[in-house]
Amino acid sequence: MKRRILFATLFAAAAAWAQKPQFIGAGGCSGSNCHGGTSPADEKISRILTTEYSVWSIADKHSRAAKVLEEPRSKRMAEILGISNPMNDAKCASCHVAGSPERAKSDGVACEACHGPAEKWLGPHTQQNSHANSLTLGLTDTKNLRVRAQTCLGCHLGSEGRTVDHELIAAGHPDLAFELETFSFAQPAHYRDPKPTAGNSLPKVRFWAVGQAVALAEGMRLLEKHVMTKWPEFSDLDCYQCHHDLRAESWRIERGYQGRKPGSAQLNLARTEIIRTLAAGELDAALNRLSTAVSNSFGNAAAITGAAREVAQKADALATRWEATDFTAAMARNLAQALVRDISRIAGNGPHAAEQATMSLDALSASYAANPQAAAKAIGELYTYLEHPSTYQGREFASLFRKVAGQLQ
Ligand code: HEC
Ligand code: HEC
Ligand code: HEC
Ligand code: HEC
Repeated sequence: MKRRILFATLFAAAAAWAQKPQFIGAGGCSGSNCHGGTSPADEKISRILTTEYSVWSIADKHSRAAKVLEEPRSKRMAEILGISNPMNDAKCASCHVAGSPERAKSDGVACEACHGPAEKWLGPHTQQNSHANSLTLGLTDTKNLRVRAQTCLGCHLGSEGRTVDHELIAAGHPDLAFELETFSFAQPAHYRDPKPTAGNSLPKVRFWAVGQAVALAEGMRLLEKHVMTKWPEFSDLDCYQCHHDLRAESWRIERGYQGRKPGSAQLNLARTEIIRTLAAGELDAALNRLSTAVSNSFGNAAAITGAAREVAQKADALATRWEATDFTAAMARNLAQALVRDISRIAGNGPHAAEQATMSLDALSASYAANPQAAAKAIGELYTYLEHPSTYQGREFASLFRKVAGQLQ
């Protein structure tokens, strides 16, 4: 009897495996008539560029994601963490070897890591008007903003089975600071910029807003999981509350502790403070409950997860709303001005919150700045300031932010 159950279980596992679409590797996309062209196709003839493979393999860091696992920095991390080979260990490979984990490990983060394992849609997707059918065969719907955001965040924030937690960070992994629109812009473009359409005047501003909401919702779900399984997880807290020089002339003491016990643990507010402004008060009560729960009821899992769940629900609702909102240049400018108004509060939460404000100003101002080059230069000043977190002063950053934002008008 037992054996029959075991057999049935094995059979079910094998069937699930057989059904799971397989990866084919970036080589499968690189045909010169497909995505391996050497110069971009004329837009009148082709919606796609046809040079996707060369852009990815030459310019996109994702194509080097597996190779970095062989560098001394990774070897050192592996040694500290007791990992024998990062290329084969899910602790690293889950994010760095995701393009074709079974067939072409050296591809790193290749096409299928974002577009979905291609075994079943590879043939069909070359037909005209096949998009809907391909989606049923495992193509990821990257045109859906929420799906796209979740795809990037799966590795750049973390997700089930993929984590850069404090243990990895303390072993030497870079902290994951991410803002969807800024990073989408930074990824060498292998697709054409989305065109404005009726009801969607500024697709990138919409993506920025939806990205903020999805990042908050996903971050809350991760927080909840951590509270249940590995609390305290230090990477969910503000890094610089622990990692800073101690001084009597401290901007923290000057700032005060706003309703929490002085010296208590603080949530990583880099993930919450920008969208608080964007939501114009709608998230305040829920976010305050969450940050109070973390600061004043640190050991009370139910209080923290309850508050996190409420924030996640509200964030999901905002994502749905913003997905259908027509963001205009005037709205983008107003949102940037709202960030300026709130910058003292944001900057008071440390360098990571300040970095998020900078990336958002960068993303927003691209839609209204009269002179994009001058704008990029001005915002560069903010990024430069943030390169030295140990000398960061909240008030100093806030006044620099006001100055730079003023130059962008
Ligand atoms: C949750 C996904 C995830 C996991 C798990 C992960 N990484 Fe990373 N790693 C990233 C991302 C995303 C970046 C890029 C960070 C950035 O630039 O914002 C990165 C960057 C790096 C870098 C710096 C690369 C560069 O170009 O400077 C190294 C080295 C690295 N990871 C090694 C490792 C090792 C070794 C492991 C396992 C111990 C690991 N990573 C686990 C997502 C992950
Ligand atoms: C890091 C994630 C990522 C990787 C890696 C990636 N893509 Fe993309 N790709 C995207 C996103 C996001 C879009 C824009 C959304 C869209 O148009 O679907 C896109 C768009 C495209 C488009 C345009 C689709 C259209 O309908 O206009 C093609 C074609 C494409 N990718 C092919 C590839 C190929 C081939 C590779 C590998 C050589 C690749 N991509 C690697 C994320 C990725
Ligand atoms: C399967 C995991 C994974 C997914 C999905 C993913 N990335 Fe990445 N990304 C990485 C890793 C790992 C690195 C680091 C590569 C390196 O430095 O060699 C990285 C690096 C980057 C970088 C370069 C950062 C730098 O410091 O220069 C950008 C930009 C980026 N990703 C944007 C995106 C965007 C936008 C998406 C979604 C469309 C996305 N990524 C989806 C894993 C992923
Ligand atoms: C609750 C306190 C706390 C928080 C919050 C915290 N850390 Fe740590 N961190 C520590 C401790 C303790 C160590 C171990 C130091 C030692 O053993 O000497 C450490 C070690 C490190 C190290 C190893 C190198 C070094 O200088 O110690 C890095 C890097 C690091 N943390 C980064 C971060 C980042 C990034 C964050 C936020 C995402 C963060 N930490 C959040 C307490 C914290």
